[in-house]
Amino acid sequence: MKTLVINGSPKGKQSNTYRLTAAFLEGMGTTEVREYCVPRLEIKPCRGCFACWNKTPGRCVHQDDMAAVIADMLWADVIVWSFPLYYFSVPGGLKMLMDRQLPMVQPFMSADSASGSHPSRYDMSGKRHVVISTCGFYTAQGNYDGVTAIFDHLCGVDGYTTIFCGQGELFRVKELRERTEEYLSYVRAAGQEFASGGILEKTRMQLDTLLYPRAVFEAMADASWGIAQTGEPADETLTFTRQMAALYNKAAWAGKDIVLEMYYTDVDKRYQILLGETGSEVFTQNFREPTTCIEAPYTLWKAIAAGEITGQEALAQGKYRVKGDFSLMLHWDRYFGATSSKQEVPSELRSTNMNILLIPWIAFWAAGAVDGFYGTLISFTVCALVPLLYFRNRKTVFDNISALLVTVCGILLLLGNPQQLVLPLSYLLFGLMWTGSCFRKIPLTAHYSMNDYGGASAMQNPLFMKTNRILTACWGVLYLLTPIWTYFLMGTELSPWTGAINSILPMLMGLFTIWFQKWFPAKVARGS
Ligand SMILES: Cc1cc2nc3c(=O)[nH]c(=O)nc-3n(C[C@H](O)[C@H](O)[C@H](O)COP(=O)(O)O)c2cc1C
Repeated sequence: MKTLVINGSPKGKQSNTYRLTAAFLEGMGTTEVREYCVPRLEIKPCRGCFACWNKTPGRCVHQDDMAAVIADMLWADVIVWSFPLYYFSVPGGLKMLMDRQLPMVQPFMSADSASGSHPSRYDMSGKRHVVISTCGFYTAQGNYDGVTAIFDHLCGVDGYTTIFCGQGELFRVKELRERTEEYLSYVRAAGQEFASGGILEKTRMQLDTLLYPRAVFEAMADASWGIAQTGEPADETLTFTRQMAALYNKAAWAGKDIVLEMYYTDVDKRYQILLGETGSEVFTQNFREPTTCIEAPYTLWKAIAAGEITGQEALAQGKYRVKGDFSLMLHWDRYFGATSSKQEVPSELRSTNMNILLIPWIAFWAAGAVDGFYGTLISFTVCALVPLLYFRNRKTVFDNISALLVTVCGILLLLGNPQQLVLPLSYLLFGLMWTGSCFRKIPLTAHYSMNDYGGASAMQNPLFMKTNRILTACWGVLYLLTPIWTYFLMGTELSPWTGAINSILPMLMGLFTIWFQKWFPAKVARGS
């Protein structure tokens, strides 16, 4: 598809809008692209002499770059108009280019449009137009009426495809790239869909979703100028703190206010952010008792914001300290994460569930200890029902291994092997599965506890991984030892109760796990 891009932004390829345009072209997969950056062209203003209509039909009196632009418009199958919104319209340079399209039409009146029009001098019927634009306000809605009026006349009311996006300045903010890249992925999808017909409804909805809620965007935008409302220059660390406060997601409020103290150690500056039910507030004085205090150099914050290092990596490397309540840090993304427009959860993002792993084993241990034959049948029935849980949960490799091992142990019982041997063997296999996973990249518990720590992204968190490796090892050792007393218990009158007795220690270990997964990262964060 021969594609012509007319870029009306004075920033050329550094333009916010051009980022969308580049993603769209990438999605289209077109290789035949010609581009013009309008402000770099020599395009003189139309003189209004109509010589291109009567004296030299189809040819303008000006000798400048517009002739080449018109030639390429005739060459192209797709014309992409890419520009920022300026005063609710197109930028001046682009408007000048549009005016200079006059030689492309004939002087005569045509009845094609209710308000009047001129017939085209060339056959433009097969050409497709795409209009891509960003604007500075929080939404595109209500801001593009002028632009729409122009293109309705230029291309016909349904004769062009649009991508209008508010909050355009955010596309140049590295710190927000998680959200802007997500948006660009929808633009890419739109390009692909456009190439094979038209943008799908689902993609259109994602393109029309705000990058950030209005209040969040406006607070960030206001803080970003680095000047106070009075015109005074604002301190850089204060601007940064304000922007972070703007990103606060009040839906994360969990019943009590949090006072987050930010101490920038390298510049000796201290601010507080109150995270409340209705939003956030930044304090520069009259400080309150902090809930959580982060002591970090400002340079480190900038490195984290620029994506040079993650907060978790920096914490694991002892580059900053956290005092007070650590739970805010554990759920940082919930409080300050980028708002995503994702509405449905793709299957790979569905959460895992440790019950799926445990249920077959518990059924086997409880029922198998009472009766080898019927107990096995019960545990097989339970195993057969477990897949019902996969409608809501994602399977892990350990869920599969568990189902397999329980089946093997059940078959051993059905074949008449003594419970006193098979039951301890089952605990041993279970223990081996846990300890064995400690030597893998992702230890067993991490597959399940990641749900509460930002999903798969938790795997990039060294502290999370270390905590889980320790916990997995503790559980593994417990289950490697369990076969010993199970063997002896099974030889006594208490044998039917073995399953119940063997659940006492795991319960205690469960309590230890709950405590340890909070205590250990907090201890590391305090620098102790
Ligand atoms: C002169 C000027 C006029 C602008 N007028 C508007 C406007 O009317 N509405 C709006 O939402 N944004 C307006 N903006 C903001 C730009 O549309 C916005 O920053 C855009 O993302 C810039 O895109 P670019 O980087 O592709 O040039 C204006 C910016 C400038 C410099």
